[in-house]
Amino acid sequence: MMKPIDVAIVGAGNRGGEAYARYALENPHDARIVAVAESDPARRGRLSDAHDVPDRARFEDWQTMFEQRKLADAVLICTGDREHFGPALRAIELGYHVMLEKPMAVTPGECLEIASAAEKAGLTLTVAHVLRYSPMFRAVKSLLDAGEIGRIVTIQHNENIGYWHFAHSYVRGNWRRTESSSPIILAKSCHDMDLLYWFAGARCSAVGSFGSLVHFRPENAPEGHTARCLDGCPHLYTCPFSAMWVYGETPAGRWPRSVVTAESSREALFEALRTGPYGRCVYECDNDVVDNQAVALSFENGVSATFTLSAFTHDVSRTIKIMGNAGEMRIHLERNEIEIHRFSDRSVHRVEPQVPTGGHGGGDEGLMRSFVEAVRSGNGGAVFSARESAEGHLMAFAAENARLSGEIVPMDRFVAGVE
Ligand SMILES: NC(=O)c1ccc[n+]([C@@H]2O[C@H](COP(=O)([O-])OP(=O)(O)OC[C@H]3O[C@@H](n4cnc5c(N)ncnc54)[C@H](O)[C@@H]3O)[C@@H](O)[C@H]2O)c1
Repeated sequence: MMKPIDVAIVGAGNRGGEAYARYALENPHDARIVAVAESDPARRGRLSDAHDVPDRARFEDWQTMFEQRKLADAVLICTGDREHFGPALRAIELGYHVMLEKPMAVTPGECLEIASAAEKAGLTLTVAHVLRYSPMFRAVKSLLDAGEIGRIVTIQHNENIGYWHFAHSYVRGNWRRTESSSPIILAKSCHDMDLLYWFAGARCSAVGSFGSLVHFRPENAPEGHTARCLDGCPHLYTCPFSAMWVYGETPAGRWPRSVVTAESSREALFEALRTGPYGRCVYECDNDVVDNQAVALSFENGVSATFTLSAFTHDVSRTIKIMGNAGEMRIHLERNEIEIHRFSDRSVHRVEPQVPTGGHGGGDEGLMRSFVEAVRSGNGGAVFSARESAEGHLMAFAAENARLSGEIVPMDRFVAGVE
């Protein structure tokens, strides 16, 4: 049996402390957590204790961890969006293989710099584009490559964020403001830009975009509302965004309640809602990211695509229609279903990819497995390179540029202007 790889974790929050750490617990023959850098002492202690990380390998921040010599084969960088570039470059400098949470960085220049640094050092740098590693999207890609719908002509891609999920992450939560995280088209939809690039099979050539923050604004608050849901708001049981049900009906320890408090009692939850960010009325937050955005894209091989992200959906899912000259493919991620209509014999086929286990339709686990394999190979190989992951990020930056300027943005011109 092969030896597990030694892993250091930077940022022990929801991703580092739960999604990826769980993989190490469940697959001890693959990965072993040997060092943790986390600024929150409780989170640092919890993760370190669960993996028997010695005191000397527990650090307050990534800067302190990276003052040491290399402590592990690889590092998982799971800090917030604006703390990716610094630790990624430093980790490469120290010779770590890196699994970097998305977005790679918050400017196009920084994304390209990370990709170049990893290439130069000959190290694996895998971006956590988890969907690419899910059984569903692996199946979609192989069906497309096998020519099931012929030559791809156009793609319609919807990202259904879900009204309560949007309220949690993009109105009350970490990704509510562009200046403290990044525009939502990057923060949330760099995954989707990456999928479009992967499916289209060519680089994007131009982008146009529209979108705005329509609903989660003070002027849309209902009559008589209070600044916090639990402060006697008359809409506590009727508002679709009420913290009472978004969190109160989620079992303890489960996302998104686990983000509000790590404690399991109702008292602890109510206290966090009375005092913390997640108890705020959705019309009284300091959010500015858009709640809807439409993007039109063209690719160098002639494929065209439209992408829509929206807060206003009942489901948290992605629904995609890929239209080829020989057939049509409909993808429903939440239902784990691919439907193929073949034009030649008017037949309809349904494919059900392997039932996923774990987060992101099995993508979290698939990503970790693939990363472990890449690190073991030791030659800087990865299923998808950092350079390739940067493409989807560039499309997202260009889309935001198009939305703000109201102009069509040619990618060549956009990339040439990247510093
Ligand atoms: N791949 C995906 O599908 C996916 C899904 C959700 C989030 N993300 C991304 O993962 C990243 C982390 O998200 P999260 O939900 O885990 O956030 P989080 O806030 O739960 O975790 C981030 C952690 O980093 C810690 N931290 C901050 N500064 C630090 C420093 N200097 N050194 C060490 N630790 C530090 C924080 O204390 C926090 O615990 C974000 O960039 C987010 O966009 C990716």
